[in-house]
Amino acid sequence: MLKLGILGLGEGRSTISAALNSKKWQLKTMCDLSEEACKQRAKEFDFHHYTTSYQEMLNDAEIDAVAIYTPDKLHAEHVKMALKHGKHVICTKPFIDDLADAKELLELSKQSGKKVFVGQSSRFFEPAKRQRKDFEAGLIGDLITIEAQYHADHRWFLEKPWALESSFKWLYGGLSHPVDFIRWYLPNIEEVMGYGMLSENGKKGGLKNEDTMHFIFKASDGRIARVSGAYTGPTQPAQRDSGMSTILRGTEGASQADYHELRYAVTDKTGEEKIIIWGDSTLKYYFRFEGQSHHAGEYQNYLEYFADSIEQNFTAYPDMQEGIGTVALLQAMDKSLKTGTPIKIKDILDTYGLVL
Ligand SMILES: NC(=O)c1ccc[n+]([C@@H]2O[C@H](COP(=O)([O-])OP(=O)(O)OC[C@H]3O[C@@H](n4cnc5c(N)ncnc54)[C@H](O)[C@@H]3O)[C@@H](O)[C@H]2O)c1
Repeated sequence: MLKLGILGLGEGRSTISAALNSKKWQLKTMCDLSEEACKQRAKEFDFHHYTTSYQEMLNDAEIDAVAIYTPDKLHAEHVKMALKHGKHVICTKPFIDDLADAKELLELSKQSGKKVFVGQSSRFFEPAKRQRKDFEAGLIGDLITIEAQYHADHRWFLEKPWALESSFKWLYGGLSHPVDFIRWYLPNIEEVMGYGMLSENGKKGGLKNEDTMHFIFKASDGRIARVSGAYTGPTQPAQRDSGMSTILRGTEGASQADYHELRYAVTDKTGEEKIIIWGDSTLKYYFRFEGQSHHAGEYQNYLEYFADSIEQNFTAYPDMQEGIGTVALLQAMDKSLKTGTPIKIKDILDTYGLVL
């Protein structure tokens, strides 16, 4: 069994549950700057090996991999430290929030020979997995276009102090999920443009950056896609709409994966229409805590996939390169919001001397 250290015990809670329930991982240490957070998780999981010092966790030679769930702006530094200590790394999304760190990270991962996996959790959720499987099996033919959205009433999130800092952007924190879906199916996005605004609710809550955004994308082969996000207002009833949804329109069929609703619909190439709604046991596997606030099942799926990649020596995706590609796209989207013009991804990559 591989040994795991977990850094950041807010969302890291899901990973604690995932590791404790997995036959492929042994949780060795959990770490948070806040001793209170450590104590809370120790009590919750009856697991008492914790430290408030990341350095101490990294010094433990027995730990094979570190899973990072600190605020976005700290990811680059925490990934660098882990690689310098010879650990494999799982880093939650968004991988980094500034491409200025990308080159050094890519070089460091090459030098270290360690694997880096980006925790784009939504790919590992049941409806998204099924949609991908059907797509790869050719059920909807070739992809024509993809539409993805992530809309949520995240006013509760504004209680976290870092949510109100000018460095926090829903563009990275929220849209990284649907944008990852776009890149999963259309990796070679060449150009993007979009509009965004800060809603009245967002202003009132103290947010500094856009909380409502619509973007369109063009891939190098001419195919197009779109994404939208809105984060500070009520959403539709779940029977009518989904907070997070991905629609694939193909040459011979179409499919839609709805996230929290655990719902998937497909019209396949034979013309058959199918709707799958997963039941309670699946729901319990994915959402183990109150409400649907955490994502333990998705994390267990990706932790186990990453364990296999270490033991069988293959690359688990999204890897660092793919994670950086998504950040480059997010950064191009950010620039498009500022300039009101279409932005080429290559220009962003060139600015940082990156060839992916
Ligand atoms: N579906 C997903 O994949 C998903 C969902 C939610 C959050 N996230 C990501 O997880 C990350 C954390 O989000 P959160 O909601 O848990 O935030 P949070 O503020 O609740 O938790 C962050 C924790 O990190 C700790 N921390 C901060 N600096 C530290 C340091 N230097 N060393 C050790 N611990 C430190 C804080 O004390 C805090 O407990 C973000 O990057 C977020 O985007 C991913």
